[in-house]
Amino acid sequence: MIEAHSLQEHLQGIIPCARLEETRLPECPAIRLLLLNADYPQHSLEPQAVQRVMDNPLYWVFCWASGQVLAQFLLRNPHWVAGKRVLDFGCGSGVVAVAAALAGAAEVVACDIDPLARAAAGVNARLNGVTVQIVADFAAIEGQIDLIIVADVLYDRANFPWLQRFTRRAGRVLIADSRVKDFHHPPYRQIERRSGSTVPDLDESAEFRDVRIYLAE
Ligand SMILES: C[S@@+](CC[C@H](N)C(=O)[O-])C[C@H]1O[C@@H](n2cnc3c(N)ncnc32)[C@H](O)[C@@H]1O
Repeated sequence: MIEAHSLQEHLQGIIPCARLEETRLPECPAIRLLLLNADYPQHSLEPQAVQRVMDNPLYWVFCWASGQVLAQFLLRNPHWVAGKRVLDFGCGSGVVAVAAALAGAAEVVACDIDPLARAAAGVNARLNGVTVQIVADFAAIEGQIDLIIVADVLYDRANFPWLQRFTRRAGRVLIADSRVKDFHHPPYRQIERRSGSTVPDLDESAEFRDVRIYLAE
């Protein structure tokens, strides 16, 4: 089991002056996550550090705007997950998985290709006192999945085929996204639109704060 200090060591191998700090999400105060310190020197990283970040994307040190909006949506509307077996795809820090567990899901599985994201999701689940099963391989998950929840994975166009894989695997899919304009992928339809921000704040442009939630069923 990877512990928080190992995650911090990894982070500092990439950005030496950075650290992980326990952060309460402004729009979901019920959730605390270990995230990049809010006062990290975003604009004054030396070129070598920038290159290391490019080579080792640290998605899991942020709670992305779409993740925070989907977590807030589940906490406000727990009937989407209550008593259900839920899969968080591309879990990163685990924010949406943690929200599903807090909202009363019977079982939560979190999946990510990045081993450090999987470790971070495990640490953050424990921090919030919930149980989340962490897996590397979507295809290896057995049994019924009632709902797949996804936040901010469509920044990578290579992930678009997953939209169909999700609907074949579960009766319902909820996707939160702010990256794709003119999202038109039936049977997905927009059910919610809300402004959100990444934590710590990346100062993203207004378009990337404009989060939509799409449902397929
Ligand atoms: C921008 S982060 C979003 C994390 C989290 N859902 C949130 O909203 O804060 C995207 C995450 O998806 C994961 N990811 C991207 N493509 C993936 C794939 N094909 N399979 C599994 N995980 C993937 C990345 O490793 C990363 O952790």
